[in-house]
Amino acid sequence: TDSKVSTQKKTFPEVQAERLEQAQRTVLINCPAKIDERKFLKYLSHHGKINSHYFYESYGTYAVVEFSEKDSITSLQDVTRMPGIEEECAVPFKSRVFTLTLKNLSTQAADQAPVHCHKQATILVSELIQKLCSADSVSNQLYTLMDEYQLTEENIKLRFLVCSLIQDIACAYFPESTVKPFGSSVNTFGKLGCDLDMFLDLDEIGQNSTRAKTGAFYMEYQMKRVPSERTASQRILSVIGDCIDNLGPGCVGVQKILNARCPLVRFSHQPTGFQCDLTTNNRVALRSSELLYIYGSLDSRVRALVFSVRCWARVHGITSNIPGHWITNFSLTMMTLFFLQKRTPPIIPTLDQLKALADSEDKHIIQGNDCTFASNLNKIKPTENTETLDVLLGDFFEYFGNFAFNKNSINIRKGKVQNKPEPSPLYIQNPFEQTLNVSKNVNQSQLDRFVALARECAWILQQEDKGHSSLSNSQPWGLAALLLPSVTSNSVKSKRRKRGPTSERIKNLLDSLKINNENSLVNNGGK
Ligand code: CTP
Ligand code: MG
Repeated sequence: TDSKVSTQKKTFPEVQAERLEQAQRTVLINCPAKIDERKFLKYLSHHGKINSHYFYESYGTYAVVEFSEKDSITSLQDVTRMPGIEEECAVPFKSRVFTLTLKNLSTQAADQAPVHCHKQATILVSELIQKLCSADSVSNQLYTLMDEYQLTEENIKLRFLVCSLIQDIACAYFPESTVKPFGSSVNTFGKLGCDLDMFLDLDEIGQNSTRAKTGAFYMEYQMKRVPSERTASQRILSVIGDCIDNLGPGCVGVQKILNARCPLVRFSHQPTGFQCDLTTNNRVALRSSELLYIYGSLDSRVRALVFSVRCWARVHGITSNIPGHWITNFSLTMMTLFFLQKRTPPIIPTLDQLKALADSEDKHIIQGNDCTFASNLNKIKPTENTETLDVLLGDFFEYFGNFAFNKNSINIRKGKVQNKPEPSPLYIQNPFEQTLNVSKNVNQSQLDRFVALARECAWILQQEDKGHSSLSNSQPWGLAALLLPSVTSNSVKSKRRKRGPTSERIKNLLDSLKINNENSLVNNGGK
């Protein structure tokens, strides 16, 4: 059925802790594409038992090798040479990224087939459309899309590995710091190729040092004082950004974006191809990732619908990989969740209902924001709603095609529309930092494009339902039809009729191209 319910799932912190520990026992090795896999593993297993390994391709062939013990890495590092100094000099930071070369290239590689590489990217939209056409229902089209787009187990492991490599650099200054992924890499809504949001967690430092209860004295550290937490974050990120730039193997294009609302360091990690955003003092975002993880794990329809809506939006340029006045994936996810809360009966609970299920361990107040909700998925009663995704997809477009964006805001905490507190075209209340609008960057023309396309797509699905489709059987249908470029041209035509002179449209377009510094966190890299 459409409402497969998951039971006994791990909590978000349990998954994070397990994967981070696993990443610390893992190394990344650039190796020849043609290599005897058996010999390769035998060579490495001199250093200890190997739990798992796989290969992938990104500017060369890489192997990800997970040892069973951390000590194996020290043993491997002990026998690893420094690179020869030929043209360029090496900065001698010893990481867990290595290069393996064959001693005798001609004899060793000659009769080898290339190793099997795991895919790290999505298929082309044209291929996707073809695949969708061979599904037997719209509902299965949505599941097919999700299967093609979602992060693979290997890709998730690689994301944790990159965090762990950055943690090694941060630990040079802050030995107890951790680097954790957040956002779409871990919230169950990540698509292959999405950016890697990382959180440098320094807060745990010193928190477990218990103050002696007896005796006449107590000691505290002398520390540098700065005017605000924000300044402290900026200083820390500035230093860590420099270290990543100067020491991190394969870390290129390091940009310090310290004046953003949430200061960050952005860079590319070449060996994995990930676009990385490192932030600190951003614990609320980690909680927000956990909330989405819960919603994504409750009912299989949630992720399937979110993936399709995001893909649809990307194909039609509703979202973009350039920061600006576009709707973001995060906003689309919030809109989809809200829509699912509004079904009868609701498919997912409101945030306030999740808060009511919380026990004392779930209580989190972060920087004055109430981030309390139940972490244990098994406490949440499964929905009785049995609607199919065929219905939900059509109704989603219909719902937002007719939503009173001019006066209402979207609020997943209450699961109800509310009056907009200020006149931003699209107002989605941040569920935790409740005075913030998640989609503050969106302008009227971008919202109008979304609405026009949603209406067009609701109409297309209704026509198909009535059997009035103008398309013959060999033509894309259902979700596949909604991903065709012709959908945009129709909605643009109807918009042109409504929206008057060309000069205005050009003005709006230019408006959306203006890059807003304030929103530089809004990054849709690779989507
Ligand atoms: N975030 C937020 N408010 C925003 C933007 C982002 O709270 N206006 C938080 C969310 O927790 C979000 C995370 O920052 O998940 C990362 O932001 P971003 O990378 O923009 O979104 P993702 O959810 O990671 O989606 P993707 O990168 O795939 O577009
Ligand atoms: Mg992201």
